[in-house]
Amino acid sequence: MPGLDDATRGRLLFGGDYNPEQWPEETWHEDVRLMKAARVNSVTLGVFSWSKLEPEPGAREFGWLDTLMDLLHEHGIGVVLATPTSSPPPWMGRLHPDTLPVTEDGRTEWWGGRQHFSHSSATYRRYAAAITEDLAARYAGHPALTMWHINNEYCTADHGDEAAAAFRRWLRARYGTLDALNTAWGTAFWSQGYDTWDGILPPRLPHYMRNPTQVLDFRRFTSDMLLECYAAERDIVRRHTPHLPVTSNFMPLFLGQDAWRWAEEEDVVSVDLYPDPRDPLGAQHGALVQDMTRSQARGPWMLMEQAAGPVNWRGVNHPKPRGLNRLWSLQAVARGADAVCFFQWRQSRQGAEKFHSGMVSHAGEEGRTFQEVKQLGADLERIAPETAGRHVTAGVAVLHDWHSWWAGTQDGRLSGEVDYPDVLRAWHRALWQAHLTSDFAHPEHDLTPYPVVVAPQLYALTDAAIGNLLAYVRQGGTLVCGFQTGVADQDDRVRPGGMDARLRELFGIRTLHEWWPLDAGESVACEGFGATLWSEEIEAGEADEVIPYRGGELDGLPAILRRGRAWYVSTLPEPGALRDLLAGIAAGAGVGPVLDGLPGQVEAVRRGELLFLLHHGREPVTVEVPGTHHDLLTGTDVTDRVTLGRYGAAVLRP
Ligand code: GLA
Repeated sequence: MPGLDDATRGRLLFGGDYNPEQWPEETWHEDVRLMKAARVNSVTLGVFSWSKLEPEPGAREFGWLDTLMDLLHEHGIGVVLATPTSSPPPWMGRLHPDTLPVTEDGRTEWWGGRQHFSHSSATYRRYAAAITEDLAARYAGHPALTMWHINNEYCTADHGDEAAAAFRRWLRARYGTLDALNTAWGTAFWSQGYDTWDGILPPRLPHYMRNPTQVLDFRRFTSDMLLECYAAERDIVRRHTPHLPVTSNFMPLFLGQDAWRWAEEEDVVSVDLYPDPRDPLGAQHGALVQDMTRSQARGPWMLMEQAAGPVNWRGVNHPKPRGLNRLWSLQAVARGADAVCFFQWRQSRQGAEKFHSGMVSHAGEEGRTFQEVKQLGADLERIAPETAGRHVTAGVAVLHDWHSWWAGTQDGRLSGEVDYPDVLRAWHRALWQAHLTSDFAHPEHDLTPYPVVVAPQLYALTDAAIGNLLAYVRQGGTLVCGFQTGVADQDDRVRPGGMDARLRELFGIRTLHEWWPLDAGESVACEGFGATLWSEEIEAGEADEVIPYRGGELDGLPAILRRGRAWYVSTLPEPGALRDLLAGIAAGAGVGPVLDGLPGQVEAVRRGELLFLLHHGREPVTVEVPGTHHDLLTGTDVTDRVTLGRYGAAVLRP
């Protein structure tokens, strides 16, 4: 199978979404001039071009795209060509209302925005396949073409009638019999037993809480249906260009797609990443998404979109202060990206995103945004030869599973304060602050390469996953699990005893009496630290070590238990405590920080032979780096220490 290296060929890709159909042809010439000045070597064309390519049903207007493909090729700029299928032309909805998705309360999502397509619509799929076929046939041999980009940020759900029929088919394939479905869904509760497949619906708006397993299966179904749409287009382009890689861009930590499963179907894993420049933990959010994407890719990955300045979809949208765009771009490269791209090349003057930044902002060539983009292009070109294709190594794996997330976010749980992404972020942040590089893994993956595995919140675990965790510890691994691990099975059925018996034994828990969720802002004291969000009334069994709760109802009961190399943390320790806990456990397992003695705001990552140092603060800091190194960014040697200025970075080769 082709991979990202077939497109990069030893370079780091640099560029972004290019939407020239919004501009007159003179601007295209200006665009390529500026692209060359910024060392842009890759652009993504056609993401939202469907109505331009097919202005009426069956018509084909490829002339403008021919001109652009040729123009870009003449200037040595490669093209990631998108199938335009995420935003059907208005005629489609008008002539074929069956292509429009329906919300849970029966409202149609109309054209006039984007992503108004039903994954289950046979009509939509037919049109999508036809335009993909013709696009692929036309450009298969074009020398500018380097990669395919299918659709864009797949994310729609559909509760309409055609989707309902598809849901039933999907359920039949999963369960075989109605009995099996009734059992899995626990339909004995609230008189929900189904006597015919035709009675089953997507989880449409009910009077009161929904059946949680129906909702869980609907999420699985939705992810699978979108994946089917992706795979259908992928197979078409593959037939024409078996030598070129195919991707579809993920949204970071997005609820709607099981990205582990999706990544297996992609040649290149790509993601869109927009941390808030004002968020003090924006850099950590970036690191988390980058670590997750790298893990899904099992190697180099593509940053498909980021913003050179502000986005325009937050309540208040802040620009990036001077230097931050470069720093966060280098962070992505440090954490394994072989492509640093933006949404979008030129900031629009019209449409819903006219206040969303571009690489060329409204201020134009002289604007600070473009000047910094130019500097970034030069930096990336400088470091590319020793960076591209190299791997990042991690001693810790963080477990994450969409199905567990889906099962844990249902109505009717004990605390609405527990937010899965927040818990995941808290644990990843602890590792990040301890300068421990982490990968992400699925609970059924081979975990043996990692001396330490942490599972922030795997509420639902399959038997296979539990078996995998037990085997991992048996084989010498150190496992640290957060609260509510292994409560439910794959059907969101609570396991006897409130936590799987094998796990209770693993952690040295005799009885889990009650869960004690905490209110927003409430904390609970533990021996030596405070904790928030959650606590549990546990009676220890054969634990080797117990750190107790102090005071209150749970006084003296275990907050943290250890049995052998297995740890259970029944609450969310405050950030510093979680950092110290995980750093201590990692050290015990022989896993240390990337570099000792790092200042707080400096992030360090090793990629291949290189040591990336990234300074997230504005005041200069000095970092001790014993020995002599060559800084690829400045082209100079440094000995024993390097000083980093505001948002500064160094890329050191020994
Ligand atoms: C997403 C989309 C882009 C654009 C950006 C704006 O990532 O893929 O088309 O809308 O958001 O941030």
